[in-house]
Amino acid sequence: MADYIIAIDQGTTSSRAIIFDRAGSIVATGQKEHEQILPHPGWVEHDAREIWRNVQEVIGLALSRADLTRHDIAAIGITNQRETAVVWDRTTGEPVYNAIVWQDTRTQAIVDRLAADGGVERFKPIVGLPLATYFSGTKIAWILENVDGAREKAEAGQLAFGTTDSWVLWNLTGGVDGGVHVTDVTNASRTLFMDLETLEWRDDILEAFGVPRSMLPEIRSSSEVYGAAEDSSLLRETPIAGILGDQQAATFGQAAFTAGESKNTYGTGNFLIFQTGEEIVRSQNGLLTTVGYKLGDQPTHYALEGSIAVTGSLIQWLRDQLGIISSAPEVETLAAGVEDNGGVYVVPAFSGLFAPYWRPDARGAIVGLTRYANKGHIARAALEAVAFQTRDVLDAVNADAGVDLAELKVDGGMVANDTLMQFQADVLGVPVVRPVVAETTALGAAYAAGLAVGFWNGLDDLSANWQEDRRWEPSMDDAERDRLLRQWRKAVTKSMDWVD
Ligand code: G3P
Repeated sequence: MADYIIAIDQGTTSSRAIIFDRAGSIVATGQKEHEQILPHPGWVEHDAREIWRNVQEVIGLALSRADLTRHDIAAIGITNQRETAVVWDRTTGEPVYNAIVWQDTRTQAIVDRLAADGGVERFKPIVGLPLATYFSGTKIAWILENVDGAREKAEAGQLAFGTTDSWVLWNLTGGVDGGVHVTDVTNASRTLFMDLETLEWRDDILEAFGVPRSMLPEIRSSSEVYGAAEDSSLLRETPIAGILGDQQAATFGQAAFTAGESKNTYGTGNFLIFQTGEEIVRSQNGLLTTVGYKLGDQPTHYALEGSIAVTGSLIQWLRDQLGIISSAPEVETLAAGVEDNGGVYVVPAFSGLFAPYWRPDARGAIVGLTRYANKGHIARAALEAVAFQTRDVLDAVNADAGVDLAELKVDGGMVANDTLMQFQADVLGVPVVRPVVAETTALGAAYAAGLAVGFWNGLDDLSANWQEDRRWEPSMDDAERDRLLRQWRKAVTKSMDWVD
């Protein structure tokens, strides 16, 4: 059998292809950023065609850097930014509108309309999610209501919806010439349309949203052969055998498979996932109930999730909008130039506040400014905001679980930032642990694909690959931690109720 697996990670800011060997080590990577289209305040779009072009390009880059061909690749795994909605015409292969990104808040009026009958928790007992702009179902409804001709075409069965896993899979398997229209249970669990128990689309909810069922992909497990790459692809005939939404993939890549295990990923946003095993746990503390993974016809594993919309993208904002740094890693140097936050707190409620608050009316705030504050304090406060938000979510996880997590496994781009990781351990009061392979998102998708084709034999093989790289122990005294958290929470209250 071929010796490698390739994972396609279609993320919010970039698309990557990463080739892994049997030890779960990275052999080569290709990466390309795509444009963030910001037409109005609160709107965030991607060009789905650009994404598909980039995916093809990064596959080529990774293969050539590793000096490998398709014959060396046993299977393809796909992982993706989750709730971002693409609607395309099956007959032309063209998207009818830009992809509406998970951070986009334009669908608030649709949320309010649906919530008028039964409140935002109306479908939560079935789907595990509150009504919120975050989830893909609201974005499909918006496209059908606002794009000329879309509803008629959808009702005639001509349009397809997919999150970017489905979009990439459909194109990779041939597009208009017989593309496979499928998603996995983890992505389906982020639409607002899937029943967590039956793993099927709910006709009554689709009707409430006005979304024809014919648009939706078939829901399949996270680890099975969905199809093979088509003839013109560099990977032709290679099976596509794993799909996991990126946060579930990172959890899988961290070998956090069983109830009580968790991870926190520092990406565009932060997402803490806590596995609850085969049990569907309903949060009392603002967490989402979601599918963790399902391997073939084995039982479904569920999870609780604390989603934070803005963490890494706050650092991008310092770079692109404020211009106080010229590259993301510079934030650490700038923050290290000041002794402390100087009393400054940044609450990055750019898409309202997600977990555990779920306040769409919140807006970003910088508070505690005095004449003394400089850009170093703002950089520091931005980094601290990432850690404070994680603390709020961890408190909710501990409350729902009824036990306190003893340590936090972390991954994602920002875990290279030592200042942030130390501060994270300090404000959590528990150790923070980083694995050797911090690219756990792509690794998780590779694992799902590799399991389906027998490249790995089972979860024990994967657990054996996990190795600790670095551990940060908390060193802040309790009184100081309490003081910082008190001020942070006061700042959070200032960000609420801002919208007229
Ligand atoms: O729910 C959104 C999430 O899937 C996006 O993750 O890593 O692209 O910020 P990321």
